[in-house]
Amino acid sequence: MTVGPVIDRRMFLAGATAFAMASGPARADSTPQLVARPGKARLLSTDYPETPIWGYNGGVPGPELRLKQGERLVQRLVNNLPQASSVHWHGVRVPNAMDGVPGMTQDAVPPGGQFTYDFTPPDAGTFWYHSHNQSTEQIARGLYGLLIVEEIDPPEVDHDISVVLDDWRLSETGAITEDFDRMHDWTHAGRIGNFTKAALLPQVSRLRRNERLRLRLVNVAVDRIMVIGLHGMAGAIVALDGMPLRVPERTDHVILGPAQRADFIVDVTAEEGEQALLAIHERDEAFVLSHFDVGASGQSVSRGPIAPLPPNPLAPLATTQGAQMARLVMEGGAMGGLRQGIWKGEVLSVRDLVAEGQIWTFNGVAGLPETPLIEVPVGEIVEVPMQNDTAFPHAMHLHGHHFQERLADGSLGPLRDTILMDRGETRSIVFRADNPGDWLLHCHMLSHQKAGMKTWIRVTT
Ligand code: C2O
Ligand code: CU
Repeated sequence: MTVGPVIDRRMFLAGATAFAMASGPARADSTPQLVARPGKARLLSTDYPETPIWGYNGGVPGPELRLKQGERLVQRLVNNLPQASSVHWHGVRVPNAMDGVPGMTQDAVPPGGQFTYDFTPPDAGTFWYHSHNQSTEQIARGLYGLLIVEEIDPPEVDHDISVVLDDWRLSETGAITEDFDRMHDWTHAGRIGNFTKAALLPQVSRLRRNERLRLRLVNVAVDRIMVIGLHGMAGAIVALDGMPLRVPERTDHVILGPAQRADFIVDVTAEEGEQALLAIHERDEAFVLSHFDVGASGQSVSRGPIAPLPPNPLAPLATTQGAQMARLVMEGGAMGGLRQGIWKGEVLSVRDLVAEGQIWTFNGVAGLPETPLIEVPVGEIVEVPMQNDTAFPHAMHLHGHHFQERLADGSLGPLRDTILMDRGETRSIVFRADNPGDWLLHCHMLSHQKAGMKTWIRVTT
């Protein structure tokens, strides 16, 4: 992996100043910038100080980038952090060089450095961008934002609201605790926070009965799985991980692993004077994340049925004939019974693995293997049966592609980019490898990824 030069605080500041001058008003270049830098956010009530964060343009979430389908995205990452960084466009089928993976698709951008991302997202939907370097720390500190690609012909709604769900680990003074590297977290369910927050964009707080909403739920937490319930509104999921469902799924809740998204279209059913709520459900309890005061209806009846979103260019697979198989066995973690693992080409005992900060393996290997899980020519269909031989759930994410799960009855599930697997489960994903390049396949519980759960595939031209 390429890492930026070691720079001390004084040099960093000097570098930042030099950059600020270079990018001053005299400069004619109008490329939009995502400046990764320290900032402050009001996460807790005003009884607490603001929380120091790292954010794009200093805020958390970062700016919500909105494009029309077919429009080009150009964003220059400017790194004003004390660490190297990069931006990954999660769920977007980007050209490989734009994927933002240090050591694989680009060099990490050193402090004071920059990198321009330039591509046209092919699919409409709800996506997000986040740091892909030291992500257990950088995402926990707030380096993420949403990328919304609007349909050419979007569904008619009264409000289109993004709901960015994060899980923070905060101290009594409201500061992010700097315990990003605790092996005890890594071997278990990850660095689970003590404060879950939903940031709404825009910040709507009043609704009317019978109004129709599009809610774009995005779980940006480093490790926490969230069960989100909708109360005082009724409707359906119309898209998962950015991709439209052929048939909207009527439900009042959704389970989102880290990085997963769900687009709901709902009508407000709460009566005037009541509240509509978004809640997180944990065991038998529910905690309110956001509430909306409901006013009198503008219209007496709700709108008609919820129609599917227009399809994206990526069509679900018609057949999986001739699929090339690549098995993946997941082992390790606490209570996993792992005895040894390969790390950097050598077989290590668990003790020695732990000393390297590693505790999870894919096919016996901790960390990125030298050779890909599979190498296929572009256009081939690939099937990856994944067996979770660990005592924890995992959220497996494939870069550059959307896949479908092969369900128990042999049919294929909806297109997704991240799949939540419970402990002991085997689930098989299948996709057309239609995007040339080297692509990561990893657990999006970032603590697990850091402690070993990653591999890659190669799609050749
Ligand atoms: Cu959301 Cu490898 O990333
Ligand atoms: Cu995991």
